[in-house]
Amino acid sequence: MSRAAVLCGLGGSLPERIVSNEELAEQLDTSDRWIRTRTGIGQRHVVAPGQSTSDLAVAAGAQALASARATAGRADDGVDPVDPVDPVDLVVLATSTPDRPCPATAPDVAHRLGLGHVPSFDVSAVCTGFVYALATAASMITAGIAGRALVIGADTFSTILDPADRTTRAIFGDGAGAVVLRAGDSGEPGALLGFDLGSDGSGADLITVRAGGSRQRSVPGPAAEGEEFFTMDGRPVFTRAVLDMSRSSQSLLERVGWSAAEVDKVVAHQANIRILNAVGEQLGLEEKQIVANLDRVGNTVAASIPLALRDAVAGGELQPGHRVLLTGFGGGLTWGSAALVWPELETGRPHR
Ligand code: UT7
Repeated sequence: MSRAAVLCGLGGSLPERIVSNEELAEQLDTSDRWIRTRTGIGQRHVVAPGQSTSDLAVAAGAQALASARATAGRADDGVDPVDPVDPVDLVVLATSTPDRPCPATAPDVAHRLGLGHVPSFDVSAVCTGFVYALATAASMITAGIAGRALVIGADTFSTILDPADRTTRAIFGDGAGAVVLRAGDSGEPGALLGFDLGSDGSGADLITVRAGGSRQRSVPGPAAEGEEFFTMDGRPVFTRAVLDMSRSSQSLLERVGWSAAEVDKVVAHQANIRILNAVGEQLGLEEKQIVANLDRVGNTVAASIPLALRDAVAGGELQPGHRVLLTGFGGGLTWGSAALVWPELETGRPHR
C-alpha cells in the first residue's frame, strides 16, 4: 500500500434553463431528428444572462463538499458545506470559459465557498480539463503538498458559441461537476490507481477561439468578425477523439492490469453518442459498460465526466466496488484517462 488520492465526494450543477432540440430548430436550419441521430443529444442547459462559470462551479463545489462531509459521517448543518474537522486545502478548477481572461476563476470560487486562503488555480485543457485537474490534484496529494482537494470541471460554452452556428449550438451545453479527493492509501475503494495523459498541439486549430489571446491582441485593431466565437472542425475531431480516447484507455488499462472486460463502467467525455459507441467498439466493450447522459445535457466540456458520474450514481448504474475507467478528449488537442474502484459515497444536502 502507498499514499494515494481517494475520491470521497461528488457534486454537480446545471443551469435551470433547458434548450430543447425543437427550440433550436425554431432558430436555426436544423431538426430534432438530425441532432439526435448525428449526436444522441436531446437537450442542453444554458446559463441565464449574468450567470457565469464560477456560479456553476460554486454550486457544484458546495454539493461535492457536502457529499464528502456526509461520506465522512460528519453532521451536515445544511448551511455550510465545509467540513470543520478536515477542510479542503487545494482547489483546482478545469475550465476554458473562465469568468475573465485574467485572473484565474478558482480563487474566486474558493473564496465564495468559504475555504480560506487555500492554493487555487485553473487548468485549461478544454474537454480533457477534468482529467488533467484530477491528475494534478491527485499528484499534489500523493506528493504531500495537499491533504484534501476540491476538483471542479465547469464551463459555459453557450457564452462563446456563434449564435448562427447550428453545429456547435446543437452540441454544447453549460454545467459544472466536482469531486473531493482526500489522502488515503492505494488499496482503498476510491483510490486513483493511475493516469494516462497526452497532447498534440499540431491540432490546435481544430478546436479554437481565435480572438482574445495575445496572438490576436498583439496585432493593432479589433478582431476580425466572428473570431471571438468558438469554432470546431467536427470531422477530424471526431476521428481523433475515437483514436486518442481508445489508445489512452488501452494503455492505462495495461498499466493498471485490468482487461476491458473487467471494467464495469467507462465514463467517457460526452461529446457524441457515435464517438462513445466507436470507442466501445475499439475497446471491445458491451453497451452496458458505457455510461451516457449526453441526451439530457449535451457536451458540457470540462463538466462532462463528473456530471456523467453524478447521473450514473443517481440512477443506480454506478455502484460501489465497480471498476471505473474515465477517459476524455478535447481541444489542444488533449486527452487523458484515469482508473479507480468506485467508493461508497453519501450525496449530502444540496447547498445554495
Ligand atoms: O468536445 C470536444 C470533442 N468534440 C467532439 O468530439 C465533436 C466531434 N465531432 C462530431 O461530433 C461531429 O463531427 C459533429 C456532430 C460535429 C458533426 O457531425 P458529422 O456527422 O460529422 O457532420 P458533418 O460536419 O460532416 O456535416 C454533415 C452535414 C453537413 O451538410 P452538407 O455539407 O453535407 O450539406 C453539415 O452542414 O450536416 C450538416 N449539419 C447539420 N445539419 C442539420 C451540421 N450541423 C447540423 C445541424 N443540423 N445542427
